Amino acid sequence: MLSAAVLGELAVELARIAAAKPVGVVLRSGKRNGFVAGADIKEFLDLRTPEEAYALIRAGQEVLDRLENLPCPSVAAIHGFALGGGLELALAATYRIGADDAGLSLGLPEVQLGIHPGFGGTVRTVRLIGVRPALELMLKGKPVKGARALEVGLLDRLVPAAELEAAAKRLLLEAPPKKSAPFVEKLLNLKAMRPFIARQAAAALAGKVPREHYPAPYAIVDLWLKHGAVGAESFEAEARSIAALMCTPTSRNLVRVFLLQTRLKGLGGRPDAEFRHVHVIGAGVMGGDIAAWCALSGMTVTLQDRSAELIAPALARAKGLFAKRLPEPEAAAAAARLSANVSGDGASSADVVIEAIVEDADAKRALYAQLEPKLKPGALLATNTSSIPIEVLAQPLREPGRLVGIHFFNPVSQMQLVEIVQGAGSNTESLRKGLWFTRRLGKLPLPCKSAPGFVVNRILMPYLNEALFALSEGIPADLIDRAGTRFGMPVGPIELADVVGLDVALHVGGVLAEAFDRRVPQILAQRVGEKKLGRKSGEGFYVWRDGKPLRTATDHAQIPADLEDRLILPMLNEAVAALREGVIEDADLVDAGAIFATGFAPFRGGPMQYAKSRGISAIIASLEQLSTRYGERFRPDAGWSRLDGGDRAPL
Ligand code: NAI
Repeated sequence: MLSAAVLGELAVELARIAAAKPVGVVLRSGKRNGFVAGADIKEFLDLRTPEEAYALIRAGQEVLDRLENLPCPSVAAIHGFALGGGLELALAATYRIGADDAGLSLGLPEVQLGIHPGFGGTVRTVRLIGVRPALELMLKGKPVKGARALEVGLLDRLVPAAELEAAAKRLLLEAPPKKSAPFVEKLLNLKAMRPFIARQAAAALAGKVPREHYPAPYAIVDLWLKHGAVGAESFEAEARSIAALMCTPTSRNLVRVFLLQTRLKGLGGRPDAEFRHVHVIGAGVMGGDIAAWCALSGMTVTLQDRSAELIAPALARAKGLFAKRLPEPEAAAAAARLSANVSGDGASSADVVIEAIVEDADAKRALYAQLEPKLKPGALLATNTSSIPIEVLAQPLREPGRLVGIHFFNPVSQMQLVEIVQGAGSNTESLRKGLWFTRRLGKLPLPCKSAPGFVVNRILMPYLNEALFALSEGIPADLIDRAGTRFGMPVGPIELADVVGLDVALHVGGVLAEAFDRRVPQILAQRVGEKKLGRKSGEGFYVWRDGKPLRTATDHAQIPADLEDRLILPMLNEAVAALREGVIEDADLVDAGAIFATGFAPFRGGPMQYAKSRGISAIIASLEQLSTRYGERFRPDAGWSRLDGGDRAPL
């Protein structure tokens, strides 16, 4: 990690090297897993003003300038990852050489944190590889592997890992001319040419992220347009620009989201169990895809249903997933790890058994009665139920404490978050195993209590419901969706309802309506009654063609002034209720759940963070106004009063 302290030490070392005048310098990392992962982003949160940020950045730039200006050549010998500040460090060396294996990963992912490279990266990439590859690297923020890095010129050489150090020394002795951008890229960098490329890049960005929500990528283009990576002033401008970005709410929130993700990845502590064999029961939409994901993650999987015919479609879907995600031999190996198991005997050797049969408490309980005697001691028993309390399902078990909910979302391969649902009697050991298992699958676990809708569906449903109430009042679907996306949601609520499936929305809505004495919008039951189930049936609230909704554009119509609040504040209100009831432990976890499962505008930092940034009392006042206008469903939850006055930044 390139913390301020590490940079300070590096400065001292470089001064020593400059005085000693060696033949050359090899920069290597002693860490097993990589070169440098990047700057220490926790330090960002302490920066209070752009001036403070500027001072930190300039100090870092100066250290890297020292490296660049050593009286001898230098080479960065890179194994594993060189990301963000790590790659910028390597860019300041005379040469770069990479250890050729699957772990090699070079990138500038800063945009994902609402900033851009700050240690000369916006300048040196353009000088070294040219403007178009440099913009691609910085604007996408996606790391590249060894072959691509060599192709674009980020690396001078790619060598077998075992030869990295020797090859680095050889390169220093050979001292070939320093690489620079290809001729065409140099032409494009001319002042007269820049506006053309910059316009293209900005137009492409505008189609993806609005400038007011995500200013960083636009700043990258602006910097280059103005300075063309020429002269010392381009470094100075880079430092000014990143310093301003670091203090924007967007960057603060994106850094926070990153740290939340890190927190989820560490939940449950250090894993102390192996998950080699998973047995999944129910090969439907969910069970089939859960089984496939487990096999993709390297586990042996047995998949049970009532007949081989019922399992076959899941196996076929799994093959498709493996082919998409894995190279040929590995895809075949993953397919070989997944097998149909109608007899159900796979359960007796499994480390984890996941039940994903129909949503019917009696059917699930009857299944557990047969299943429990077969389980290995210590095996985790999990249900994918979306609405039945864990206590109800655990009741007939001899060891009720072993059952937890592992609630995957649909589609399993795309949804990052998994709820780990604790019943009143679930034991800590099972809960921890649930967390570890989910982490092992590369997913983010969110622990919560067994309560109606758990957390994610509970906070998402009021958003969808309100959209449907608005639709019933005659506000056009497209306008409602625009209000959602303008706020920063990935898709509007009407489109989302169609994607989730109106039958699923009706079911979840019904469970919550019953639990909390609410109303499901009539229009939802009506569409389901007409067999219009959304995208999957070709029509819901929209008609769908080729996976896209046909919209009646409302670009010129005004979004009603209170619509955004009508949609968003019920989510916040519900999040506060879930917190007050102890369904979820703290506000940061609520934010993580909302962001990683519903795509809640990441630059706003999640519903609770958004509430805090707007001010708790302001939110309460807006809810009260909406309540007067539209009814009781907007009444501010009692939990707000506990948060009132707590408008401080979390974390
Ligand atoms: P599904 O109806 O697609 O599949 C259920 C499968 O279970 C069927 O293939 C059926 O033959 C099989 N089955 C039924 N009884 C069985 C038994 N006794 N032994 C073996 N197999 C049996 O259902 P889906 O949608 O996959 O849902 C499964 C579970 O996941 C439910 O508890 C549901 O609430 C939950 N869930 C569903 C989500 C969704 O979007 N569909 C999302 C998250 C959870």
